[in-house]
Amino acid sequence: MANPTSDKTILRALAGEEQATPPIWMMRQAGRYLPEYKATRAKAGDFLSLCYNPELATEVTLQPIRRFGFDGAILFADILLVPQALGADLWFVTGEGPRLSTITGEAELAQLRSVDDIHETLSPIYQTVRNLRQELPKETTLIGFAGAPWTVATYMIAGKGTPDQGPAHALKGTHPAVFDALIERITEATIEYLSAQIDAGAEVVKLFDSWAGSLKGPDFQRYALEPTRQIIAALKLRHPETPIIAFPRQAGDNYIGFHEATGADCVAVDDSVTADWVAKHVQPGGCVQGNLASRHMVTGGEELVSETQHIVRTLRGGPHIFNLGHGITPDADPANVQLMIDTVRGA
Ligand code: CP3
Repeated sequence: MANPTSDKTILRALAGEEQATPPIWMMRQAGRYLPEYKATRAKAGDFLSLCYNPELATEVTLQPIRRFGFDGAILFADILLVPQALGADLWFVTGEGPRLSTITGEAELAQLRSVDDIHETLSPIYQTVRNLRQELPKETTLIGFAGAPWTVATYMIAGKGTPDQGPAHALKGTHPAVFDALIERITEATIEYLSAQIDAGAEVVKLFDSWAGSLKGPDFQRYALEPTRQIIAALKLRHPETPIIAFPRQAGDNYIGFHEATGADCVAVDDSVTADWVAKHVQPGGCVQGNLASRHMVTGGEELVSETQHIVRTLRGGPHIFNLGHGITPDADPANVQLMIDTVRGA
């Protein structure tokens, strides 16, 4: 549990405090909808060079804090740096997304590097965290993150993003031992990576399980819930004071009981569930984060205002961190972000 007397509003929410005005930050708040991000990215050359350049990664993390005064700053990096640190090839194709070497069987699994070796690749990220703790305003909470094992595995197996995570589901069926060993390797790497982020100064960490919604029945328990539980248990042993946010995106009914089953201090919810449902079924378990639909950052107007007010008012009866239901998109208008913040703080 976080310190309830902290003057950081995100840490207060994570310690279980209800606040009339919830703290707010936004997934992908440093990104292509901001002209200053595009300028810094151009200076870095490409996206991965930006991630591994502590000075420029610090700069883009700070940009949305300067412009909007969010209560939280999320470390600028990517969930696919862990596969790269484990030895996968990684590159980004402009306009398309990530590409990686694939894992289709025992041979490729055997070529991965050991978990002890990941820090060699990831040390610039820890330097970014240290820089940020020096430079952030005292009221801003620094959030570190990693991908959850299932989501990371879907990219490592397919070598790219896929609409239905088909290749990962297929490997799970045809080569269960390889699949389980991969999940285990990513789980161990994620524990070491997040622990190093906390040692460097991350005050909260978040696990992104963006594709958790494609795991059904016992698969959800085994590959979304269980690795998350293991990562949280290991981190709580080493860093009992550091709160953890879990985001099993599109989990639906599987959001119910997720706090208790995993030990997460906060469960982030996407916008496929309503705030009313979340207040009734998820918030009794602890702090929730979410869940305005990202499209409002493109469309704005009265609908943005009324939907934002509804979420704030509906989740006011328990601990809540305001956020979008998923990342902001490049076609968003920064003026709509400001309107969302003003609405949250005036509701
Ligand atoms: O501002 C922040 O939220 C912090 C930084 C952050 C990025 N990626 C930067 C980024 C975070 C937390 C992520 C997480 C991430 N990365 C996830 C989980 C969350 C989610 O969105 O579901 C996933 C699945 C990835 C993998 C990834 N990275 C994809 C599929 C893509 C391409 C899609 C796209 O938007 O282009 C990326 C690239 C990426 N990661 C960008 C940013 C700002 C855009 C890269 C660019 O500048 O061209």
